[in-house]
Amino acid sequence: MQTIFRLDALRTCVADLKMRGKDQIGRSLALVPTMGAIHDGHLALVREARNHADLVAVSIFVNPRQFSANEDLDAYPRTFDADSALLAAEGVDLLWAPTLDQMYPAGYATNVSVSGVSEGACGASRPGHFDGVATVVCKLFHQVLPDIALFGEKDWQQLAVIRQMARDLDLTRPHVHAIIGVPIVREADGLALSSRNRYLSPEDRARAVALPQAMHRCVAVIEQGEAVPNALAALHVALLSAGFSTVDYAELRDSETLAPLVAIGPRPARLLVAARIGGTRLIDNMGLSANL
Ligand code: PAF
Repeated sequence: MQTIFRLDALRTCVADLKMRGKDQIGRSLALVPTMGAIHDGHLALVREARNHADLVAVSIFVNPRQFSANEDLDAYPRTFDADSALLAAEGVDLLWAPTLDQMYPAGYATNVSVSGVSEGACGASRPGHFDGVATVVCKLFHQVLPDIALFGEKDWQQLAVIRQMARDLDLTRPHVHAIIGVPIVREADGLALSSRNRYLSPEDRARAVALPQAMHRCVAVIEQGEAVPNALAALHVALLSAGFSTVDYAELRDSETLAPLVAIGPRPARLLVAARIGGTRLIDNMGLSANL
């Protein structure tokens, strides 16, 4: 695995890797963007990337522009050596780990802002977050020039924002032919894997399982015909009684357009939830069957 910290070296490395086959035939490249603190969810993205491309690049960059002032930027886990060892063992070809000044040099002044799908849910509870995500992912695409890019479905709204941006800014051709969403990886008890799970105390970790459990119940009752507002209210109560301090949002949305829904209809719907336990903000989402 080649580890690159500077943009000029990245460009040479990508060009070289893509053309290094014994027949000098161009090889396809997949990008898995991350903020490090690599866990099995990231490794699932890497393994899926292998099914789609000849070469796999992973980026690690803790992007300050997607954190607001009161968030956990300073505390965000930085475990570069362990991450690097995990990715090398997984057979990753290229680790792109830009420094802050490579990503945002002095005088940097451009922002990518996606409307529509970024509104409400995490867009409301984390103002500016999706501008930061869209900006850095747009830059990563231009830097690495991947043929495809893979993102976890745990950040369902983020995936919708990135797909919209890639369409709107013509990033899907020629560089990124496909933005691939990879299903959530869960612990044995159902908690979705997240770099932020390592903030949880053992007690809060035990209580956090209430999130997927309450969501499963909510999905089941809606599919059995319960009114969506009632089911969401019950989910809210269940989380607070399980020890969550706040529920940032619990919403049913159209899976693709992310339009808020008050009832299930003919199109697939998604339950999206963010809630806080012991100071840690957890997000999760689950699909519902369409009401055909
Ligand atoms: O999902 C993440 O880890 C980040 O939001 C991403 C996509 C790497 C952009 O910083």
